[in-house]
Amino acid sequence: PDQSKIRNFCIIAHIDHGKSTLADRLLERTGTISERDMQEQTLDDMDLERERGITIKSHAVRMTYKAQDGEEYIFNLIDTPGHVDFTYEVSRALKACEGVILLVDAAQGIEAQTISNLYLALEQDLEIIPVLNKVDLPVAQPDVIAQSLEDLIGEPAEDILAVSAKTGTGVDDLLEMIIDRVPPPSGDPDAPLRALIFDSVYDSYRGSVVYARIFDGTLSQGEGMEFMSNKKRYDAEELGTLRLGRQKVDKLSAGDVGYIIGSVKDVQDTRVGDTITTEKNGATEPIPGFKEVKPMVFSGIYPTDTDDFEDLRSALDKLQLNDASLTYEPETSAALGYGFRVGFLGLLHMEIIQERLDREFGLDIITTVPNVEYRVKVSKPGEEDDGNIVTVDNPEEMPHYGDIDEVYEPYIRADIITPSDYIGNLIQLCEDRRGEYVEQRWLDTERVSLVYELPLAEIVFDFYDTLKSVSRGYASFDYEFIEYRQSDLVKLTILINEDPVDALSTIVHRDSAYEIGRKLTKKLKELIPKQMFEVPVQASIGRRVVARETIRAQKKNVTAKCYGGDITRKRKLWEKQKQGKKRMKQVGSVDVPQEAFLAVLSMN
Ligand code: GTP
Repeated sequence: PDQSKIRNFCIIAHIDHGKSTLADRLLERTGTISERDMQEQTLDDMDLERERGITIKSHAVRMTYKAQDGEEYIFNLIDTPGHVDFTYEVSRALKACEGVILLVDAAQGIEAQTISNLYLALEQDLEIIPVLNKVDLPVAQPDVIAQSLEDLIGEPAEDILAVSAKTGTGVDDLLEMIIDRVPPPSGDPDAPLRALIFDSVYDSYRGSVVYARIFDGTLSQGEGMEFMSNKKRYDAEELGTLRLGRQKVDKLSAGDVGYIIGSVKDVQDTRVGDTITTEKNGATEPIPGFKEVKPMVFSGIYPTDTDDFEDLRSALDKLQLNDASLTYEPETSAALGYGFRVGFLGLLHMEIIQERLDREFGLDIITTVPNVEYRVKVSKPGEEDDGNIVTVDNPEEMPHYGDIDEVYEPYIRADIITPSDYIGNLIQLCEDRRGEYVEQRWLDTERVSLVYELPLAEIVFDFYDTLKSVSRGYASFDYEFIEYRQSDLVKLTILINEDPVDALSTIVHRDSAYEIGRKLTKKLKELIPKQMFEVPVQASIGRRVVARETIRAQKKNVTAKCYGGDITRKRKLWEKQKQGKKRMKQVGSVDVPQEAFLAVLSMN
C-alpha cells in the first residue's frame, strides 16, 4: 500500500477517561463494525478486563476511512495497556506509531496516567494530539482543562478538540485531524526487513501469534525469518492484517501493522520489543530499545491444599504462555509446604495473576506478603555470585548479618495527582514511607501534582489503598522504576523457643525494625497456643534481640477433663485433636498452628 495513506496511532489516557469508548466510535464511523454488531468496548476481550475496566493486553485494529479529500486512508489503531506495570508494553506499542491521541476526561482533568503516558509518548518523539472527552457531561469544564493541557504540552487551548466518545460529537473532526497531524510512515520497503514486535498472544493451535509493525523492508508469506535478540529462526507461515479478526495477506511491508504466525511454540522466543528480520539479506541493526522485562515484585504462592500443587504448576504454565513477563520457580516453605516463588512486573500484575488463578483455574491459594528484589554486597563472595553482589528475592535467602557490607533496594518515582485539599495527607503518607520529596506543581486552581522518590518496598503493600483512603478516592498515582539505592536494611528474624523460623523473616529498614518486631511477636503470642513449657517469641537483627514476648506454659491437661466421660465425646475430642495436628507445624519442639503463619505471611 501507499505509505502516504497510512496512519498508525494509539490512544493514551488515564483509566476511565474513555479510551475504549472512543475506539468503538472510530470503528463505527469508519464502518469497520456496524452499530448493530457493536458490543460495548470491543477492544477489551477478557472478562476480567471488562470488569476492571483496564485494557491489559495490546491489540491492533485496521480501519479504512474515506476522508473529506476523497482519498481512502488506512488507520492502524494500536491499543495500549493502561497501567504502570505494563509501561514497557505501552512504550513498545507507542514505538509502533507515528502519533498518539492524548485523551483527557473534561470532567476529571489531567490524572497521573495522563502524565506518565505523555512522558512515554514524548520519549518516542510522537506527534501528540490532545483531545478532551466527555464534553456531553454537564460537569465537564472543557475550557479549564484545555488551559491546563496548554500549560502541560504547549498546545494552544483554543486548538484542542473537544469530543464526546459517547454521543459521537466531534469524532468526525478527530478522524480528519488524525490524517492532518499524524505523519505517515516513511520506511523503505526495499531495505532489509525490520519489524518491531509490540505484542504477542498464544494460540493453542498456531503457537505464538506476533503483532508487529514493519519499519523497513517486506516480509512475504513462507519466507524465513529471524528474531534478532535470540537468533531463533522460523518460517512466516501466515501473515495478515487485523481488522476485528485476522485477515490473511501475502506480504507485509514498510508502514504496515499486522500479525505473523510461524509455529513458534515457545512464547519466550517472541519477546515484545524484539526485531524480526529475514533469514536471507537480513538487517544488521535491530530497532533500538529492546529489553528483557524483569519482575520487580515477588511473592510466594501456595495451594491451600497440598494436593493441588501440580494443578497450580499447570495453571502457571498456562498463564505464562500469554504472559512472558510472569516468572516462577518451585519453593518449599517450612510453614506453607510446596509452592512457587512468583515474580511480577508490579502490583496490578500480581493482583491479576492471583485473580486469574482463582477464577479461571478455581485454585484456592495462599499468597505471601510481597517483597522486592534486593542487591546485597557481601564481604565473602560465593562462587557463582556476580562480583560480590548477591540478588535476594526472598528474605529467607538474605546472607548472614555479619557477611553483609551494603544492601541496595529499588527506588521508584511516584507521580501523584490530587485535589489540593489532600496534599497534607499525601505528603505525610510519602514521608512515612521513607519518601524523598522531589517537586510539587499546580495543574490548575484546584489540583496539584506531587512527585516523590520512594523505595518500591514501601509501596508494594498497602500504599495504593492508603493513598485512596487519605484522599477520599480522589488522588491518582503512577510510578516508574528509577534505580537501586543503598539503604540501611536488615533482616529481621523471628525465633520461636530460640529457633529461628526462616519463613517468618522479613527485610526491613533498621529504623522500623523495632516496631515491626514488636508487632510480629505480639501477634504470634496471640496465635500460638500454650505449650507444656514456657515459649519465648523473639525478633532479632543478627544476634541482637529487638522484641520479645513469652507464651506462658499451660497448666491443665486437656484430656484430663474427659476422664470418665462418655466415649463418643472422647472420640470427638480425639478427632478434633487429630485435625488440629494436621494444621500444626512443628517448629523445634513447638507446635505452631498454620493460622499463625498465615496471619503473618499472607496478604489476606
Ligand atoms: P480503561 O479501559 O479502563 O482504561 O478505560 P477507558 O479509558 O477505555 O474508558 P471507557 O471507554 O471504558 O470509559 C469509561 C466510562 O466513561 C464508561 O462508563 C463510558 O461509558 C464513559 N464514557 C466514555 N466516554 C464518554 C463520553 O464521552 N461521555 C460520557 N458521558 N461518558 C463517557
